[in-house]
Amino acid sequence: MTDPQPGPAAPVELVVVGLGYVGLPVAVEAAERGLRTVGLDVDAGVVAALHGGTSHVDDITDEQLRGALACGLTVTTDPTVLAGAETVVICVPTPLDEHRAPDLGAVFAATETIARQLRPGQLIVLESTTYPGTTDGPVRERLEGASGLVAGRDFALAFSPERIDPGNPTYRLANTPKVVGGLTAACTERAAAFYGRLVDTVVRTSGCREAEMAKLLENTYRHVNIALVNEMAVFSHELGVDLWDAIAAAASKPFGFEPFYPGPGVGGHCIPIDPNYLSHRVRALGYQFRFVELAQEISGRMPAYVASRVQLMLNDVGKPVRGARIALLGLTYKADIADDRETPARPLIRHLRSLGADLVGVDPYLDRFEVDGVPLELAHTPVGVVEACDLAVVLQRHRAFDLEAVAAAAPLVLDTRGTLRGPSVHRL
Ligand SMILES: NC(=O)c1ccc[n+]([C@@H]2O[C@H](COP(=O)([O-])OP(=O)(O)OC[C@H]3O[C@@H](n4cnc5c(N)ncnc54)[C@H](O)[C@@H]3O)[C@@H](O)[C@H]2O)c1
Repeated sequence: MTDPQPGPAAPVELVVVGLGYVGLPVAVEAAERGLRTVGLDVDAGVVAALHGGTSHVDDITDEQLRGALACGLTVTTDPTVLAGAETVVICVPTPLDEHRAPDLGAVFAATETIARQLRPGQLIVLESTTYPGTTDGPVRERLEGASGLVAGRDFALAFSPERIDPGNPTYRLANTPKVVGGLTAACTERAAAFYGRLVDTVVRTSGCREAEMAKLLENTYRHVNIALVNEMAVFSHELGVDLWDAIAAAASKPFGFEPFYPGPGVGGHCIPIDPNYLSHRVRALGYQFRFVELAQEISGRMPAYVASRVQLMLNDVGKPVRGARIALLGLTYKADIADDRETPARPLIRHLRSLGADLVGVDPYLDRFEVDGVPLELAHTPVGVVEACDLAVVLQRHRAFDLEAVAAAAPLVLDTRGTLRGPSVHRL
């Protein structure tokens, strides 16, 4: 087995394929650390905006992007840059298709593009979340098929799951340990040496599949534990138990317990989408990954539960939902970010609209928000909105919100995050 080495004349040290929430931070970090880096994306609009110094990703400010461009980062739609790269990192989307099955179309398209330019000595790393067996299966086959080169002998191949937590002010790319698993031990070492230039700690797995599984284990663990407290929130309310107080008490145990908190449903990519990659794979074995399917079902019901609580709260003050003015605070899928992918606000709005509510959304991060093609009336601040509503629902605790003021000003508040107190406040 030969340890693939970088080619002799490699003007570009890194090409990052896919410049979204995951790829752009990698490209910026690498450029800041002095690697000759090129970002490649199929979306000419994204590339033009980045080239002009405008970032579309929450975690990268325009200033940071411009700093990286000044350090030599270039962005392009031209795939011929791949041929000169020492390392290629793939950060393209892995969504679900209309049957909620894995859609690896972007990964395969990117892989085929890379395969056409593949050179001996290159390191190819997949970062996109996917099921175990993708890197050493269809990705490897595509890379080898079009190039005639052999993975592990002529070029290095590895998987390294992306662990970015958008909006997290403490853990960024560099100080979050990076898991790396190669097709061979030499591939793992090659990938570990590469990531050692970008991050403080590299964690090696025994192979690609273990690295792929580590990512899905992390996501599934959160998915299941969030569903657990969501289910408990529903019956705790009926039992007259303050679940948040119970969670705080349980969290005082210094070992064996990690707190998770209920909410209006799960959003983003890591929780509602990624574990499906694993459950779909398990179904192909002839049985179900029941924890994931159950978690999906429980958390998927939360928006309807929130709508029913709104209905009950209004009923208690003698008002129907039809015609009631309801303010929804925080429409993105988590606090302090602008990403509204898979946000539970959408199904909640569907439920409340079907009951005839008069809705207004409040989110400082959004300038427009549509559900099923119908725009939602929007404000950037709760000030002036919550005073005039019948009920306000706190969905996300954006730092920009003065929620104590909301609790004081709104006639009724449903706090799905469980932190507010006051005579007008009901918690989930
Ligand atoms: N966003 C997150 O917080 C997060 C966290 C963990 C893991 N992930 C995983 O990371 C991967 C990427 O997610 P993301 O959120 O960065 O996606 P994204 O949609 O933000 O960005 C993906 C980018 O890839 C580009 N692209 C698509 N096909 C391409 C191709 N063939 N060649 C070049 N560019 C192409 C798109 O134009 C887009 O700009 C996914 O597998 C996702 O599951 C995301």
